[in-house]
Amino acid sequence: MNLNRSVSPKIATPSRASHSLRSEALRLLLIESTQAKAAQVRALDPTQLAINPDEIMQEPAGLPGRPHRPLLVLPAQLKTRAVGTLEGRAGLLHALAHIEANAINLALDIMWRFADLPPDFYLDWWHVAQEEALHFELLQAHLTRLGFAYGDFPAHDGLWDMAERTKGDLLARLALVPRTLEARGLDATPAVRNRLVSVGDATAAGILDTILHDEIGHVAIGNHWYRFLCEQRKLETVSTYADLAQKFQAPPLKGPFNMQARRAAGFTEAELTALCEGQPSHA
Ligand SMILES: [Fe+2]
Ligand SMILES: [Fe+2]
Repeated sequence: MNLNRSVSPKIATPSRASHSLRSEALRLLLIESTQAKAAQVRALDPTQLAINPDEIMQEPAGLPGRPHRPLLVLPAQLKTRAVGTLEGRAGLLHALAHIEANAINLALDIMWRFADLPPDFYLDWWHVAQEEALHFELLQAHLTRLGFAYGDFPAHDGLWDMAERTKGDLLARLALVPRTLEARGLDATPAVRNRLVSVGDATAAGILDTILHDEIGHVAIGNHWYRFLCEQRKLETVSTYADLAQKFQAPPLKGPFNMQARRAAGFTEAELTALCEGQPSHA
């Protein structure tokens, strides 16, 4: 595959048969404009491409492709703005859009980087990438309605940082990205939604309802493939997660936990008990 070719809005077709779904994921990951990346991810039909699970690709420079803005800063440098002001509400929606931009990259990255998995693995993460692209577009459209755009506020790079740390170990990637960071989104979303309702932004609240619904599915996909790999490697799921969280310095998870969403996403009672150990209970 020629990684230097210019990015084109043209969507892969069978006539470009040398492209596999996995090589397309890498090409899309390299696109700098998040808007263009999201549009191309949403437009691509995976049934038009071979998956090629055994294809091994070299990591190109410039991963992930991302725009010049937003400016990336340390989390401590980000200002907290009152959500009751227009700028504060836009800042909150911008932070969510940035999470979705990263989430598109994470779903594409797991597809090209990790070979030799069943075809459903790649189709599952393609489905996730398409939903993350939709989430980004919904938030970007609402930011536009408020007079802002993605890139107008600084952002931090915590999500991609975890992708970097786990790029050599798929089990760690699954444990720490979908099962930790995305699952943390399940916990955080209801409170954010309520803040938006409290300032009268029903449109934003509706977008968060869509996101929460879809994210339960993403965490479920993470759980499914985490268990698949644990079974293959003859590992016990709860203690393996604790070991990986320690080894890869996962952020400590603090309650309240969204137990209903976590159960819907396939966490077992043993996993939820381990999660809540040392935490106030929030059933
Ligand atoms: Fe999302
Ligand atoms: Fe997600």
